[in-house]
Amino acid sequence: MTKPRVFITRVIAQEALDKIAQATEMEVWPEELPPPYEVLREKARDAEGLVTLLSDRVDAALMDTAPKLKVVSNIAVGYDNISIAEATKRHIVVGNTPGVLTETTADLAFTLLMAAARRVVEADNYTRKGRWKTWGPKILLGQDIHNATLGIIGLGRVGAEVAKRGRGFNMKVLYYDEIRRSEEEERQLGVEYIPELAKLLSSADFISVHVPLLPQTRHLIGAAEFALMKPTAVFINTSRGPVVDQRALYEALKSGQIFAAAIDVTEVEPISPDDPLLALDNIIITPHIASASFTTRKNMALMAAENLLAGLRGKTPPTCVNPEALRS
Ligand code: GLV
Repeated sequence: MTKPRVFITRVIAQEALDKIAQATEMEVWPEELPPPYEVLREKARDAEGLVTLLSDRVDAALMDTAPKLKVVSNIAVGYDNISIAEATKRHIVVGNTPGVLTETTADLAFTLLMAAARRVVEADNYTRKGRWKTWGPKILLGQDIHNATLGIIGLGRVGAEVAKRGRGFNMKVLYYDEIRRSEEEERQLGVEYIPELAKLLSSADFISVHVPLLPQTRHLIGAAEFALMKPTAVFINTSRGPVVDQRALYEALKSGQIFAAAIDVTEVEPISPDDPLLALDNIIITPHIASASFTTRKNMALMAAENLLAGLRGKTPPTCVNPEALRS
């Protein structure tokens, strides 16, 4: 019996490749940069399965040229790079990798929060540039983290883990979300629900965003929202770049409307090296590495392998974002 053909858009953990290789005829894109869209489309032509990353666009046009495609297994919890409705129409199941990256992502969000508050990157540059001449009473002062108020936008899996980290620093934790958690969950997490985003923005010392990218969350944070924040506020985004109006973020940082920001995602990825944000000292920008620990990246790849193999067998992947694709 011929094995199903699959295309994997990057070299992923060997353990996952080994599993996939046993059951499929696989081709792995060997380069560091993603396959260009037209190449991915060509590779998808005969494929029954694709393993993709968030930098690979899987849209209707691509699926139209891939009549045998049964499953797209995305190695990410977010799946805004894939047209889900179009996949569902074509009975293509889509898998993602929730859960395994939650704490690793929350760790990075809190790392960024602390680094921005205490100006760690700026301070390191200061030392390297030979500017450390003395212990100065006013040199590189930052914001206290302990006892401050943390405002979380989107209390899903990652948001809840960030809340726990905040509680560990004795922070007061507020959250805003479309869906309120139960009283019991709020009590366990030690969080207070704020039904209005504006109120959370004006009350918090630290604001961390944890929402998926959807039409209704695009530019959720823009000029009007930055205007509500305290001048001492520190803003963190580890969700998706387009959730924030980056031009407005630049203005808020440049004018001192807020104290600092740290972001792991940008509106266009990678950010252009001449983007004005990169000229500011009060922002830290990491290259979308929130889930990038050795263990988590391996677990994400293994989970994606399971999703792929289930989809190829005509089954619903264990973590599937559109199980209705097989029902319709
Ligand atoms: C990363 O951004 C992910 O969605 O897993």
